Amino acid sequence: MSGIELRGRLIVFEGLDFCGKSTQVELLATRLRAGGLSVTTTREPGGTPLGESLREIILSSGSAELLAISELLLFVTSRAQLVSEVIEPALARREVVVSSRYRLSSAVYQGCGRGIDLALIERLNDAATRGRHPDLTFLVDLPAEVALARKTGEKDRIEQESLAFYERVRRGYLELTRDDPHVHRIDGTLAVSEIAAEVAAYLCL
Ligand code: TYD
Repeated sequence: MSGIELRGRLIVFEGLDFCGKSTQVELLATRLRAGGLSVTTTREPGGTPLGESLREIILSSGSAELLAISELLLFVTSRAQLVSEVIEPALARREVVVSSRYRLSSAVYQGCGRGIDLALIERLNDAATRGRHPDLTFLVDLPAEVALARKTGEKDRIEQESLAFYERVRRGYLELTRDDPHVHRIDGTLAVSEIAAEVAAYLCL
């Protein structure tokens, strides 16, 4: 992809908690803006007023009783608002949208991690996103134990999950994206600058 072709495209960063997605979203956005492109950055869950409220509920340790299906529906609700209020309008303005997480997160965390039927998640994702898939996903891949070891300070509700849960999620990321030409996997153990350089090189920036 060249800089011109990036207009009106949705680029997503995916990966385990603490793989450095948010940093890469900001670095890429800065670089694209320096090249003269208009960029909208988003994050999931969140990115809209309702989405940010849902984020607090989803990640609060006080929501320990949240059922897996309820959790899925909250993520999907947040996503539906984000697509309608932010992503689609920005793409219509021919901006580049760079998002930390999108529909694949629900497939791997709620599907592979919690065991919810992947076909159900796909249908809900299709409804929430109106069938919008990312044009390109960077999967910042990290072994589960490395991701967990990076955690310091207070953990949110999902971060309190076991190593086995994170291993299922990581395996899910690798297996669900294996044959997808729209997904580019990057070694998340590389330095921040090396990951950013690989992203830039892939986009021919
Ligand atoms: P995020 O803000 O990306 O956390 P981090 O910056 O620590 O990676 O995501 C919050 C948590 O929500 C994270 O543990 C992953 C989880 N999540 C899901 O389980 N399903 C989803 O669909 C999404 C979007 C996030």
